Amino acid sequence: MKLLVTGGAGYIGSVVTSQLLDAGHDVTVLDDLSTGHREAVPEGADFIHARIHDSRPHLLGRGFEAVLHFAAKSLVSESVAAPQLYWENNVAGTFALVEAMRSASIPTVIFSSTAATYGEPADSPITEQTPTNPVNAYGASKLAVDHMLGSYCRAHGLAATSLRYFNVGGARGRFGELHSPETHLIPNLLSVAAGRSDACRIFGTDYATTDGTALRDYLHVTDLGRAHLLALEASTAGVHRIINLGTGEGYTVRQVLDACRTVTGHAIPADEEPRRPGDPTSLVASNVLAREVLGWAPELALEQTVADAWDFMQRVDAAR
Ligand code: UFG
Repeated sequence: MKLLVTGGAGYIGSVVTSQLLDAGHDVTVLDDLSTGHREAVPEGADFIHARIHDSRPHLLGRGFEAVLHFAAKSLVSESVAAPQLYWENNVAGTFALVEAMRSASIPTVIFSSTAATYGEPADSPITEQTPTNPVNAYGASKLAVDHMLGSYCRAHGLAATSLRYFNVGGARGRFGELHSPETHLIPNLLSVAAGRSDACRIFGTDYATTDGTALRDYLHVTDLGRAHLLALEASTAGVHRIINLGTGEGYTVRQVLDACRTVTGHAIPADEEPRRPGDPTSLVASNVLAREVLGWAPELALEQTVADAWDFMQRVDAAR
């Protein structure tokens, strides 16, 4: 298929672009490089340097058959401090993109939604029927786009899939997580083992979990990427599907720390700190619908996710 990938210079977008190219698709990446890296765009993909807000001239007459839309602001704590960035980029930007798709008659979109749409859910595991009630502007902005896409499916016959990612980790060879500043748990823990800092920080030890630290569902990025290829195949005109993507297994921050210690052989000292604003206690996916609708199942466990993230970090350090 002839595909447009927004955000293909970022972590998840670059991994999925590499998987799409390996599967034989013709891929063009559109990215403003605000947080992504030009060198992260896989060889073999065309590149357009533009914001999604300005995507219209790049879509018209190009014959794209589908858009995979990764470009977004995606940090919970940033969205608490600066919500305007989230409404402007994630909602206004996506509205411009979806309107450009309509003008260009592009029939299909796969959208990166998030578990943050559910807020502080009572249910665990979280199903797609769990009520949405985001507790930060990041989750609210992604939920707004889910609603936007649903309305376009009903009114304009768009085929849309909102994939609600839980926590994503790991790498695919040279494609991995390279944020600056880095806020995510696994790379922060591994950066201590790599000697970039002296100790990691555990945000919150008073959560109602087995060891007091927050519980998350860490999915390997290549398992996540496979679901996008399957979602493209399963897309149906006029239908908006919302599908959770997670392993179905929850790990506390301390359990992830233990996995990082095992993989790296490093002690990784930890400082205990107060909770981070906007962080829910527990986010664990039910992936029953993904199994049924996409024929998808996660294949890689937490240890592999950590090992591949560690391999990627060592590649980055070796290249410096
Ligand atoms: N944490 C620490 N120390 C750190 C970093 C994180 O203790 O140095 C804790 C956080 O407080 C949280 C957990 O580890 O409890 C996971 O934090 P991450 O920053 O790795 O990920 P988040 O759960 O905040 O968010 C991620 C994505 C979001 C997505 C969410 C859904 O960044 O886009 O998962 O589960 F919405």
